[in-house]
Amino acid sequence: MLDVTKKEKTVFICNVCGYQSLKWLGRCPDCGLWESLQEERSRPAAGSRRSVREVQPCSLTEVEEQDDDRSATGIGELDRVLGGGIVPGSVILLGGDPGIGKSTLILQMLSALAKKQGKVLYVSGEESARQIRIRARRLSALHQDIFLATENAVETIVAMTRDMRPGIVAIDSIQTMSCEDFSSAPGSVSQVRESAARLVELAKRDAVSVVLVGHVTKEGILAGPRVLEHMVDTVLSFEGDRSQSFRIVRTVKNRFGSTNEIGVFEMKSEGLIEVENPSEIFLAERPFDAAGSVVLPSVEGTRPILVEVQALVSPTSLGTARRTAIGADSHRLALLCAVLEKKAGMDLYGHDIFLNIAGGVRIDEPALDLGVICALASSMTEKVVAADTVVCGEVGLAGEVRGSVHMDMRLNEAERLGFRRFVMPGSSSDRLSRKPKIEVIGVATIQEALKTVLV
Ligand SMILES: Nc1ncnc2c1ncn2[C@@H]1O[C@H](COP(=O)(O)OP(=O)(O)OP(=O)(O)O)[C@@H](O)[C@H]1O
Ligand SMILES: [Mg+2]
Repeated sequence: MLDVTKKEKTVFICNVCGYQSLKWLGRCPDCGLWESLQEERSRPAAGSRRSVREVQPCSLTEVEEQDDDRSATGIGELDRVLGGGIVPGSVILLGGDPGIGKSTLILQMLSALAKKQGKVLYVSGEESARQIRIRARRLSALHQDIFLATENAVETIVAMTRDMRPGIVAIDSIQTMSCEDFSSAPGSVSQVRESAARLVELAKRDAVSVVLVGHVTKEGILAGPRVLEHMVDTVLSFEGDRSQSFRIVRTVKNRFGSTNEIGVFEMKSEGLIEVENPSEIFLAERPFDAAGSVVLPSVEGTRPILVEVQALVSPTSLGTARRTAIGADSHRLALLCAVLEKKAGMDLYGHDIFLNIAGGVRIDEPALDLGVICALASSMTEKVVAADTVVCGEVGLAGEVRGSVHMDMRLNEAERLGFRRFVMPGSSSDRLSRKPKIEVIGVATIQEALKTVLV
């Protein structure tokens, strides 16, 4: 009799969300992306044939405790996003655009760890050993305890790791890895998922930390199904404008630390250099007394960072006006434009609007609304927001300015960098824990804020 369970069948899998369909579809019904379904041969999952094992649950108090000895890499900006260091046996996924510097960061991290705690393993499926040596020399990361393997087969990597027992193994990249008993091509959804699953199992069983490098698709999503993000403990995203030298590592998910934390680096020929005072760098090339430019005190994780937001409002030459936001959420921009039109009587209709957060950073905090409103109004009216002023507060649909968290932290940073005026929500200014050294102006509505800052 034909054993149907062993029969291969063709399925179409969305390479973003992992949705499966028996026939090809132009658009994924689950995540809505076009042309994301790929044909793959699927075999029944091994799990379905596994015999039932006897597993006895045990009391949580009886579970052997593992030291939460994080190994700090010594690269401060990286340790910050990891929540203090790498937890033994954890799996970290580092995603980023092509050529952004993922391999560079990994090599610098491995070099720092090799110096501190001995053997580490770097598995590359993309580059030759010679290429990696050249890079390591340029980064001054050559170290005898960094072991290198150019390999694509996950089974071999797992066996090699068990044999060698390094403290950490880095896989560059997960899209080039494949499991031998899986017929689909490397980089396909099922290969990525299966390879990652085996490496996660290796990390948990043998308490080896695993770092996976992941490519990002043109839509800016980590290639491979979303499930990859669920499988790992920490997801780091490596961002930055390739035309500029700043690079930002952001925590997207962290089972062992806070998210929204960012680490800032500068890419130089000798590698990624930590930037300890990002505010100073982000504000370095700020135009003074230019309409449309406002400084915002944002808080990323546990650190305040001042950034400059620039707005350009100009009459449109096309039929439909454009609303473009770089480094900020475009839906939020549309909302703030509507509030500005309705509550401050500003006629933005027929104007193209461009918003940019300088320095290639991305900020998604609602506390920055008021700064964006001021930048838009400043560009529209050609009135300047004084260069020594910072603006912060969330804006509601009725044009009210709402309180924001961490106001003391934001104030400290503004004071440290020599700003003289801080426009903040009235409710927050009443609750400051100390007497400010600079002028603090509490506002309740956007009209009040605009009257205060536009001169
Ligand atoms: N000699 C150099 N001087 C300055 N910067 C350099 C030099 N060589 C490489 N870089 C920088 O390193 C970047 C490439 O780094 P890296 O190879 O680590 O990126 P990656 O994210 O691993 O790329 P890929 O996606 O191709 O694997 C380049 O974009 C460039 O900015
Ligand atoms: Mg690389």
